Amino acid sequence: MNKEKRRVVIAGNWKMNKNARETRTVLEQMKNISVPEKVDVVFCVPAINIPVAAKEAAGSKISIGAQNCHWEKSGAFTGEISADMLKYYGVGYSIVGHSERRQYFGESDETVNKRAAACLENGICPIICVGENLRQRENGTTKDVIRQQVRGAVKGFTQRQMAGCIIAYEPVWAIGTGKTATARQAQEVCAYIRQLISEIFGRQAAEGLTIQYGGSMNAENAKQLLSMEDIDGGLIGGASLKAEDFEKIVASAQ
Ligand code: PGA
Repeated sequence: MNKEKRRVVIAGNWKMNKNARETRTVLEQMKNISVPEKVDVVFCVPAINIPVAAKEAAGSKISIGAQNCHWEKSGAFTGEISADMLKYYGVGYSIVGHSERRQYFGESDETVNKRAAACLENGICPIICVGENLRQRENGTTKDVIRQQVRGAVKGFTQRQMAGCIIAYEPVWAIGTGKTATARQAQEVCAYIRQLISEIFGRQAAEGLTIQYGGSMNAENAKQLLSMEDIDGGLIGGASLKAEDFEKIVASAQ
């Protein structure tokens, strides 16, 4: 299967930005952007704004996603949110294992694996984030880090579960820094991710997998990144907060 047959998913990661009122206002503008036929557009908003966002996006081409999801259905896990709760609002996607969660909140490959499995059980597509930091890139261990994170995230998954996932390659040194990986650097790692998935789940699973790039993707660099053979979409932080920037990225996914 070639690139043309894969799902293109452009996802905004709003991180800890915008209150309910601002969420409504921005989504009102986003609803009017033109979305090419084969592109899925998602906004992963703070959990508290999911009800407002879901209501605002209803009937439009926009899907609402979460930024995290716990693996248990319910219980004594103060501050966490379950996939069952997300499902109630029709959430279609959830980021899992974002580098900020790994860095500041102790997320490990094991918890990423459990969170992704819980999403899949509830019909939510996990956007599994992997990526090396600057030190790892500079000392030449990027592929080792990616291999460990990818294998850990999908450990024990069936082919069917794998088919329900997205993997996002987000080099930590490129997130929020304005330093984008070059299209060649991004392509190289995304191709490696596809190879790893092929080794575990077979060629067909690998060829069908949507792989996103994330890290300072913007209106200027999106077209080149998205034209690479193994980059099927983007996970976008800063540039997903303003409709005019985001619209250009979506348009360049064509
Ligand atoms: P950025 O964030 O686009 O602001 O670099 C990307 C992300 O963290 O998902």
